Amino acid sequence: MRAMSQSPSNRPALPPEIARRRTFAIISHPDAGKTTLTEKFLLYGGAIQMAGQVRAKGEARRTRSDFMAMEKDRGISVSASAMSFDYRDYRFNLVDTPGHSDFSEDTYRTLTAVDAAIMVIDGAKGVESQTRKLFEVCRLRDLPILTFCNKMDRESRDTFDIIDEIQENLAIDVTPASWPIGQGASFLGCYDLLGDRLELMDRAERNRVAQSVVLEGLDDPRMAEHVPPDLLAQLREEVEMARELLAPPDLKAVREGHRTPIWFGSAINSFGVKELMEGIATYGPEPQPQRAERDILPEENAVTGFVFKVQANMDPRHRDRVAFVRLASGHFTRGMKLTHVRAKKQMAVTAPVLFLAADRELAEEAWAGDIIGIPNHGQLRIGDALTEGEPLRFTGIPSFAPELLQTCRAGDPMKAKHLDKALTQFAEEGAAKVFKPTIGSGFIVGVVGQLQFEVLASRIELEYGLPVRFEPTQYTSARWVSGPKEAVEKFAAANRQQVAHDSDGDPVFLTRLQWDIDRVGRDWPNISLTATKDMMV
Ligand code: G4P
Repeated sequence: MRAMSQSPSNRPALPPEIARRRTFAIISHPDAGKTTLTEKFLLYGGAIQMAGQVRAKGEARRTRSDFMAMEKDRGISVSASAMSFDYRDYRFNLVDTPGHSDFSEDTYRTLTAVDAAIMVIDGAKGVESQTRKLFEVCRLRDLPILTFCNKMDRESRDTFDIIDEIQENLAIDVTPASWPIGQGASFLGCYDLLGDRLELMDRAERNRVAQSVVLEGLDDPRMAEHVPPDLLAQLREEVEMARELLAPPDLKAVREGHRTPIWFGSAINSFGVKELMEGIATYGPEPQPQRAERDILPEENAVTGFVFKVQANMDPRHRDRVAFVRLASGHFTRGMKLTHVRAKKQMAVTAPVLFLAADRELAEEAWAGDIIGIPNHGQLRIGDALTEGEPLRFTGIPSFAPELLQTCRAGDPMKAKHLDKALTQFAEEGAAKVFKPTIGSGFIVGVVGQLQFEVLASRIELEYGLPVRFEPTQYTSARWVSGPKEAVEKFAAANRQQVAHDSDGDPVFLTRLQWDIDRVGRDWPNISLTATKDMMV
């Protein structure tokens, strides 16, 4: 095991069990190769025996109907929400980010549970729209980002172009960790700039570890044994330029999120993956302090954690839910009694699960940085804190105002009560915002992307046997209303037509035009309207 590691701050070194943990997510535009890379990570981590096991999921994602099928098959979808595997002396926890752009809020929350992100880009396409969006979310949290430029076995863009694009588009310095040799059909491999090694890709054997030649720098005469003269001359020239023009690798700058190291490779050929894994080990970082009213340090003895995701109805027969908890501090052991801070109740955590690739396993123990799943009957909600007694509130898991609003009615009006229950559950799961208007019947459901309405309708029918209709409304947005109690009551009474309550009972103002919001700003100086609400209660 790795020796006690030195934190970049002035804190003492972490206990080795915590210091060896790396909790991260992969962000990418669809099709860049996230699923393939995940699969190769698991392969190297020994968590799966054969490539192809994760693939079913990647394919299912691509089309909507398959996505529905995947939703039905909750087992697959959930077991992949957080996966743990060992790599050398490290324990990697890979948290899955939802693939579809419609789920950006869910993605945001997922990213609150990790300490770093890997950004996968396609070497031919560079920075794509979804990459940029997800990157912005990482930036909000100053997450360290490691970049993997994939599909180098195909025709790709010029290396400097790719790097320039990342620097300009994302406003982050790029430092090359490896440099590609040749491209497309003539792609040979990479020169590893960190380890002064030549890594050669083996096209014939996709799952074999690439051949690695240790050299004494780029001028080592043995280079010529492996690289043809024209490519070698180009490599030397480009590396010289890169070293002159680009930022050098710097652990601190990477960890602060100002600089991203980039590796070039080909996930499908298992090429560059191992170097990237080494990069995660090096740049990590190890589990970081988590934001609460006070910073929670991973090395604190008392166990604390927060729920960042709830997955309901994993098994429709049992209506059970799994709350995914990121442990912020301490050493958790199975059977521990933790305080559920919001409910002010003790909870014996007897059946926590760890997700090891395709299998769920009972977690006998877990450390700060780990993600455990806690099966429950609906007590645990996103944002909830679990502690050994301290009445902690974590901060920084916001709820965003939805961008699309529709009314939802039960196909059979007699079943309105069931609809209430189903929608409440989805609201708690974070899959949608559900507003109950002050006047009239029915519910107004808010989401970030159109696809979510369809997924919801399908799940309500599947899980509750209740056909529903979603219909357009006149509203385009919602804002949480806050201010002195009396002012809020007065405002709600004066605007009954447009006021509703969310699933926590908090008032929201449904708006049609920006003008509505401006009017409130003008006429109600004591009232503030906000587009986000902190879910940590
Ligand atoms: P995603 O999860 O980011 O959406 O991407 P995914 O891994 O599913 O990969 C998208 C497509 O890109 C897949 O092809 C995959 O095989 C291919 N791919 C991934 N890595 C590489 C690579 O290094 N080089 C090349 N050339 N292709 C790569 P597909 O045709 O959609 O699926 P399949 O036929 O391979 O199953």
